[in-house]
Amino acid sequence: MEKDIGKVLIAEQQIKEKVKELGQRITKDYEGKSLILIGLLKGSVCFMADLMREINLPLYTDYMVASSYGNDTVSSGIVNIKKDVSADIRGMHVIIVEDIIDSGRTLHYMAEYLKSKKCSSVEICSLLSKPSRREIEVDAKYIGFEIPDEFVVGYGLDYAEKYRNLPYIGVLKPSVYSKNP
Ligand code: IMP
Ligand code: MG
Repeated sequence: MEKDIGKVLIAEQQIKEKVKELGQRITKDYEGKSLILIGLLKGSVCFMADLMREINLPLYTDYMVASSYGNDTVSSGIVNIKKDVSADIRGMHVIIVEDIIDSGRTLHYMAEYLKSKKCSSVEICSLLSKPSRREIEVDAKYIGFEIPDEFVVGYGLDYAEKYRNLPYIGVLKPSVYSKNP
């Protein structure tokens, strides 16, 4: 697995510190409010698991499955909801937890969709963002790291469903996906 990684972009320790900082900000911002974290599967799994433990408040969790990607490294642009929230989120303060904002299409769609469910507020917390790739503006309150336009894997992020279990964020060698159309 490691042989497919060109370089480590964000080390395990850097992720840990950033997640702690985001958790502390959210703890301050949501004191006294009914909070629900909604993780987008599967990419947010590592981030969600670590982030919720850095938030020192009572909270709810739920998950949604959205897809705009096949096994490719470019977005199809179409967002589908494959699994909706199970919880009744009316009146709640929602934070959507995501691995990365790329074109912005997924989070734009999901945020609008959740807002239509009459919650009190909807904010976005994404570990990574690639600002240079944005096609639709997304107003994300919490961003861990802004990264350049390189395809990254690890800490939940995949290429063709692999590499999610790497403990750091690494740049995949382009040879890995160019020989695997
Ligand atoms: P968007 O709708 O274009 O913003 O796409 C967001 C989704 O694309 C993320 O949830 C990821 O699943 C996927 N994605 C975008 N960039 C990367 C990357 O560099 N590595 C792995 N997945 C990515
Ligand atoms: Mg994803």
